[in-house]
Amino acid sequence: MQVDLRILRYDPERDAKPHWEAYTVEARPIERVLDLLHKVKYEQDGTLTFRRSCAHGVCGSDAMLINGRNRLACRIRVDQLGRGRITVAPLPGLPVVKDLVVDMDGFFDKYKSVMPYLVADSTPPPERERRQSPEDRARYDDTTKCILCAACTSSCPSFWAQPSYVGPAAIVNAHRFIFDSRDEAAEERLEILADKDGVWRCRTIFNCTDACPRGIKITQAILEVSSAIVERHA
Ligand code: SF4
Ligand code: F3S
Ligand code: FES
Repeated sequence: MQVDLRILRYDPERDAKPHWEAYTVEARPIERVLDLLHKVKYEQDGTLTFRRSCAHGVCGSDAMLINGRNRLACRIRVDQLGRGRITVAPLPGLPVVKDLVVDMDGFFDKYKSVMPYLVADSTPPPERERRQSPEDRARYDDTTKCILCAACTSSCPSFWAQPSYVGPAAIVNAHRFIFDSRDEAAEERLEILADKDGVWRCRTIFNCTDACPRGIKITQAILEVSSAIVERHA
């Protein structure tokens, strides 16, 4: 079948602003949008720029706005997008570097700001692993699944309105350690997220949860973190 593919192109060295370009691509229904982008790049226009690495939903590098929704180009198939035109644009709310590539520096700065690593310094490390009961492990299982694709944060209207909001992805990664029974820095993370640009900027809009390619219950995780902040001051 022939697919009518529209891609929002922008080359900062040539273009004053982004513009749509149309491509006709031969594709099978089971091919992914990433396959279509490869066909355009290899067969029609080598200047098309996008990020991808694993091509199997693991690395998180090819999140983009596909038919108006944030998705991974390597996970969404042509037959899942209906019979009409397919549109592809960069993730909204983040500065565009070129074509479908956005600047992720601010996103990763926010991720780093919530201490997304285990802190357990009060006792010497055990000889083998730090043990944990299955129940304690299950407490934060959902938020271990994040691949840092930014589909959530860049779909959040609160983030669009206030780019200083730490955003759902950072909160998800804070949750992963706040509720880890082996970790000792939950208080510090809750303090960081109680800031004016922390969890209170969330208006439970749920776009983040709808956008997450890993199916993480992001809004629930945010509410669990905000409840923990409230309990801490009770
Ligand atoms: Fe991507 Fe989901 Fe992680 Fe957000 S929480 S960065 S949407 S994997
Ligand atoms: Fe934004 Fe998700 Fe909250 S879309 S407002 S972070 S529920
Ligand atoms: Fe790695 Fe899509 S290319 S998640």
